[in-house]
Amino acid sequence: MKHNKSLRPGISILMGMLLCVVLAACGGGGGGGGGSTTTGSGCGSPPTLAKKDHYRVGFSQNASNNPWRLAETASIKAEAQKRGDTLVYADAANSGDKQVSDVQSMIAQKVDVILLAPITEKALVPAVLQAKAACIPVILIDRDVDHTLAQPNKDYVTFIGSDFVQQGKRVADWLIQATGGKAKIIELEGTTGASPAINRKKGFDDEIKTAPGMVLLASQDGDFNRDTGRKVMATLLQAHPDVTAVYAHNDEMAIGAIAALKAAGRHPGKDVIVVSIDGERDALNAIINGEEGTSVQSSPFFGPISFQTIDQYASGTKLPDWIVVHDMQFTKANAQANLANSF
Ligand code: AHR
Repeated sequence: MKHNKSLRPGISILMGMLLCVVLAACGGGGGGGGGSTTTGSGCGSPPTLAKKDHYRVGFSQNASNNPWRLAETASIKAEAQKRGDTLVYADAANSGDKQVSDVQSMIAQKVDVILLAPITEKALVPAVLQAKAACIPVILIDRDVDHTLAQPNKDYVTFIGSDFVQQGKRVADWLIQATGGKAKIIELEGTTGASPAINRKKGFDDEIKTAPGMVLLASQDGDFNRDTGRKVMATLLQAHPDVTAVYAHNDEMAIGAIAALKAAGRHPGKDVIVVSIDGERDALNAIINGEEGTSVQSSPFFGPISFQTIDQYASGTKLPDWIVVHDMQFTKANAQANLANSF
């Protein structure tokens, strides 16, 4: 078929634009880096990162509704500022959809690398794959994604975060010890589908099965949120007045549960033992005043380790699939001493 001559310039422009889109999609990474295999796009799998004195770093935070998230954001911002890097920051306000569009906006702004704290294991997978297609390396921090859908050292660089299974196990071990292996437990779960919720449940539930006197009465989502935790606890308390222990997947829900117990005339720390994870200031104070038993730390201080990892990746260091953050545990023995450094 013959082309109409008057259409040819338009077609050429269109072809040129298409080429530009393809090149732009493949030209953002470049340089050194830890990428193993190279994809058809030519920028690495995961995309490589050119070594620079200063980076434009995207940080996609999933929410800012609790002290843990605020401490994490402050740590990332402080480290970026210390290094003179530019931070492109977005808060997804607890919405998976918003977080996907936040990452898409960072891709459009052509940041060098993205630090992503994905709200749930599945919701952010498309965004991780889109960043990869645009040749922008993604480093997951604090929460992981579903490895059947996206893999470290292939679709994203690595996951930096705590061992959530171990955190749940440590809480269970403390509780078994404190109760002599006999307790009727209500579990307040974190956001459904979030990696810490999935794995803190697994670690705890598997461990209490080793002590036949540890009975799980009920387990329900409290969304990692203080007020939701309080409401869920108030409802579950009516159905299970025989409860003797509460395991909350984070301190915020534990503090909410303590409020619900008190409102119902119960005595947290005496007739109900409350245990949780994070190590925030309110939990340490609750431990000091006897209302909470233990809180296993989940460190939110991701700034230094995240930017170190960016440097290592740009230098070509082969990184492990998972960079494990090691956590402390707070009890009556050390809560006071650690109060000043809490968040
Ligand atoms: O991903 C880490 C968890 O998320 C923290 O334990 C929790 O408090 C936060 O919302």
